Amino acid sequence: MNEKKIVRAVVVGGGAIAQRRHLPEYAANPNAEVAGIVDFNQERAKELAERFGGKAYASLEEALADPNVDAISVCTPNVTHAETTIKALKAGKHVLCEKPMAQTLEETRQMLEAEKESGKILMLGHNQRLIKAHMKAKELLTQGAIGKLLFFQCNFKHAGPETWSVDAGAGTWFFSKAKTNFGVMGDLGAHKIDLIRYLTGSEVKNVFAKMMTLDKRYADGSLIDLEDNAVCLFNMENGLPGIMHFSWTNYGQEDNSSVIYGTKGVMKIFGDYADDIVLEMRDGVQVKYTVGGIATNTNQIKSGVIDEFVASIVENRAPIVTGIDGHNTLAVIETAMKSSEEKRWLDIQY
Ligand SMILES: NC(=O)c1ccc[n+]([C@@H]2O[C@H](COP(=O)([O-])OP(=O)(O)OC[C@H]3O[C@@H](n4cnc5c(N)ncnc54)[C@H](O)[C@@H]3O)[C@@H](O)[C@H]2O)c1
Repeated sequence: MNEKKIVRAVVVGGGAIAQRRHLPEYAANPNAEVAGIVDFNQERAKELAERFGGKAYASLEEALADPNVDAISVCTPNVTHAETTIKALKAGKHVLCEKPMAQTLEETRQMLEAEKESGKILMLGHNQRLIKAHMKAKELLTQGAIGKLLFFQCNFKHAGPETWSVDAGAGTWFFSKAKTNFGVMGDLGAHKIDLIRYLTGSEVKNVFAKMMTLDKRYADGSLIDLEDNAVCLFNMENGLPGIMHFSWTNYGQEDNSSVIYGTKGVMKIFGDYADDIVLEMRDGVQVKYTVGGIATNTNQIKSGVIDEFVASIVENRAPIVTGIDGHNTLAVIETAMKSSEEKRWLDIQY
């Protein structure tokens, strides 16, 4: 890296997540700058370079060959995550890869291998653990605020990705099995699975899941060949059971809530949008915390992911979300898909 420790980052894939988080957050970080953008859509890349700085590279290879580039953000559809990440690590660049980490565990293993061989940082874009309310919740749980944990219930439900993607509509890559491998399970499930691992400090032991396709359709009117709803029962390795529901067919208010039940009371995180955390204690006392709110598809707030990635490079330390976090989360997703097919409980094979 240069003497001033400015991290010069190239964003690969200039779509919704790049425009709403990666590019503005690099541009606003005093230790980083946007070195450029790579996108199939050259017009988009040029327009973004004018807005955020750097150049529109003609290809990923051109960006990786540039010695002025320190880091790469992988913001392309999931099918390209593994290949792009591995090429970038091999080219000596630090990598921030969006979630889900890849399409298969075989790919995540290769990514971890490339990280090890390169000695560079690999961080995953699991932003839920960087949301202030979740960090506060972790602190409260660690202090025993609701006693011994008994059960968790997490939801992530919104109206679907076809209005979010920069190339919106029923033809979105989010509905293409070849480009994602997973539907809502990889898209929204990835967030809450990583979050519960973080909040409880435990890995998922086993899962029983049911995938459903209820309402999302291709342009010809046929149902998509990916799940638009998923319900999962889990047991954590520390013995804690829980349930999660992920949905792309919630046409009401977005639901991004987590409820954790303990022997002394209940913790509701984003149970409604008036308070970030509410503790409902067994004796009837309520304690409320307002600690920064939550981003929704229509109301973006700073994710903190880019700041953490830049800080981990500048300080030469592991980031708060590692490649192992991405791998272990994908292992749960992959096993949940298999559980739904086989209609039985399955242990996670990490
Ligand atoms: N962390 C989060 O909360 C969050 C939220 C949304 C999306 N994501 C993830 O971010 C990634 C991108 O999603 P999005 O919503 O921005 O998608 P999007 O459809 O809005 O944008 C994708 C962009 O990538 C470009 N592209 C596609 N293939 C490419 C390739 N091989 N090389 C270069 N450019 C290519 C497209 O032209 C488009 O500009 C996905 O992995 C998604 O799961 C994460």
